[in-house]
Amino acid sequence: MTRGVRHLLDLDDLAPAELSAVLALAQDEYPPHVLAGRGVALVFQKPSARTRNSSEVAVFQLGGHPVSIRGDEVGIDTRETAEDVCRALCQYHSAIGARVLDHAVLERMARVASVPVVNLLSDRAHPLQALADLLTLRAHWGGSLAGRRLAWVGDGNNVARSLVIGCAMSGVAVSIASPPGHGLDQDVLDRVAALGGEVQATSSPVEAVEGADAVSTDVWVSMGQEGEEASRLEAFRPYQVDAALMARAAPKAAFLHCLPARRGEEVTDEVIDGPQSVVWPQAANRLRAVRGLLLWMFGSHDGQA
Ligand code: CP
Ligand code: NVA
Repeated sequence: MTRGVRHLLDLDDLAPAELSAVLALAQDEYPPHVLAGRGVALVFQKPSARTRNSSEVAVFQLGGHPVSIRGDEVGIDTRETAEDVCRALCQYHSAIGARVLDHAVLERMARVASVPVVNLLSDRAHPLQALADLLTLRAHWGGSLAGRRLAWVGDGNNVARSLVIGCAMSGVAVSIASPPGHGLDQDVLDRVAALGGEVQATSSPVEAVEGADAVSTDVWVSMGQEGEEASRLEAFRPYQVDAALMARAAPKAAFLHCLPARRGEEVTDEVIDGPQSVVWPQAANRLRAVRGLLLWMFGSHDGQA
């Protein structure tokens, strides 16, 4: 990191009190134009519907100009190094969002950036999704987070990692059911422990979901894992969230999914379209989440530490 610029590569780049401040700012539906006259670069090495659109609209609502760029246009590490792409974008923009294949690319960009770098999803983390998920859970649980329990069913992937960290920062316990070899890695468990969080890992979806206040899942094959598709579909088959599994959760438990979903794989139509599903408010919260983050970054301390 350079000159005290604050980046968001994962949620624990924020202190817990800062996370609370971002979540509060996310509720501001008529925010001040803190980005007036400024640009924000949004680089995508992988496809996106929600992240690109919510980020572009958020920058617009804050008075700024978003420039979305496909990875192959700037050629990260092909046309020029990731560092030089980042240095170039810093000449024109007040922040850089990037969705990358390899989290290490984000870290390299953040090391040379003179403006904040925000992770728009990497193979390791999806902090903007976790912010939206916390907003969604808080609304579903009547305005508070602490003391509840979320069950994650499936892959201990990028989305799971950031959400589990967000839960640890917010006093939400997590139970996670994954096939052997696909659970949360030690790095995340260590960070959760450092935050005083609670994660119970099991291979049994029923055990994880029993009595939970929310149930969340994600695709079994993330972008970039297409080569593992056959073995993953086989390993994850017992981990589908269906009506019988949801019935094990607390009666008013919410069902969350970051989307896009592969219906009939990790979740049935009955659950994702059912009365407990909050996936569309969750998608709507992506806009509030990124707007709240940018408002926090540029409202009070203008991207500086
Ligand atoms: N949830 C999410 O990040 O969706 P996109 O991949 O469509 O941006
Ligand atoms: N885990 C998924 C999330 C997509 C928003 C992926 O990385 O493809």
